[in-house]
Amino acid sequence: MPEDRTEQPHIVTCTAPVNIAVIKYWGKRNEDIILPINSSLSVTLHQDQLKTTTTVATSRSFQEDRIWLNGKEEDITHPRLQSCLREIRRLARKRRNDGDSGVDSASLSHKVHICSVNNFPTAAGLASSAAGFACLVYSLARVFGVEGELSGIARQGSGSACRSMYGGFVQWIMGNKEDGKDSLAQQVEPETHWPELRILVLVASAERKPVGSTSGMQTSVKTSCLLKHRAESVVPGRMVEMTEAIRKKDFAAFAELTMKDSNQFHATCLDTYPPIFYLNHVSQQIISLVHRYNKHYGETRVSSFYSDIMGEISGHWTLFIYTYFFIKGLPVNCASLSEELKQGIGLEPMPKGINYIISTKAGPGPRVVEDPTQHLLLSDGFPK
Ligand code: DP6
Repeated sequence: MPEDRTEQPHIVTCTAPVNIAVIKYWGKRNEDIILPINSSLSVTLHQDQLKTTTTVATSRSFQEDRIWLNGKEEDITHPRLQSCLREIRRLARKRRNDGDSGVDSASLSHKVHICSVNNFPTAAGLASSAAGFACLVYSLARVFGVEGELSGIARQGSGSACRSMYGGFVQWIMGNKEDGKDSLAQQVEPETHWPELRILVLVASAERKPVGSTSGMQTSVKTSCLLKHRAESVVPGRMVEMTEAIRKKDFAAFAELTMKDSNQFHATCLDTYPPIFYLNHVSQQIISLVHRYNKHYGETRVSSFYSDIMGEISGHWTLFIYTYFFIKGLPVNCASLSEELKQGIGLEPMPKGINYIISTKAGPGPRVVEDPTQHLLLSDGFPK
């Protein structure tokens, strides 16, 4: 009987990717619904290396909405969580009223239990909020049976999360409407477009960023005239050039734009008052090393931004980076680097300069996990 069926929680598990911006989002024009002052563009990273997994359960027997993040119950009344829950339920109701038979009418009136884990350290400079909110919105949509455009809802959880709703190369178009209806993510190219591209995430320090993005960008919007100039006069042109570089798989153009945009982002941080410092000594060394490497070869083979590095699979730059910074107490095997290269670079290797390296590539967007043994919630709707 239908009544009995609703006693058993309806459980869905999904995964979503991290993304890394090559044209940075920094600054909001609306804090409540998260509207940016400029468009941005990112690469969605492969979920084989970095992902969030979220299980959502609905049941008539649940008393209230609840959430557990990385093993700990968190406050569900957080405004951004509330925005996502409210908007998904609103969308589901609208679809149902429009006659969409896919929407699960029964569960619409039920409370949800949410359980989410990352397979990487939170706040290590990786966009954990992006994967987290993308996964939350995608999972909620699945549990209620809603399909279609969801990036506008993920955006209200965390701006960068809207870009994690798609795989490959993704732009977040800033839009200009007051209600944000046109501030959405859109795939520029799928992950299959540029399979030679590799991304190394160099985790220089697994600690939290000194200033969080949300408050950092607030101060930047208030105090940095460089940020205003960037948003109005620099980013629009770069979005066009970046899209073109990706379309043509022009690594040199792609890498140069990425580095310049990252530098300008860090410059706006320094132009913020009081200033924000995100680059530490190790990230500066990485940036310098990449430039020396490219100079040595007379072409742009590698790009660096923050503590992440990108290049194409051809060439031995990954080995080079590993050799310079590796890690975990292993002795540096400089034998694999030619004398000529070492001379040309003129920088001493920095073993243990970074904690670890995650080597990855562009990957697909959020997915449903079909295997029920992967659920993070038990059949009673509580965490395992
Ligand atoms: C530097 O998306 O974390 O990673 O919208 O306040 O949640 P909120 O900020 P968030 O900011 C990300 C900033 C960035 C650049 C980017 O990802 O584009």
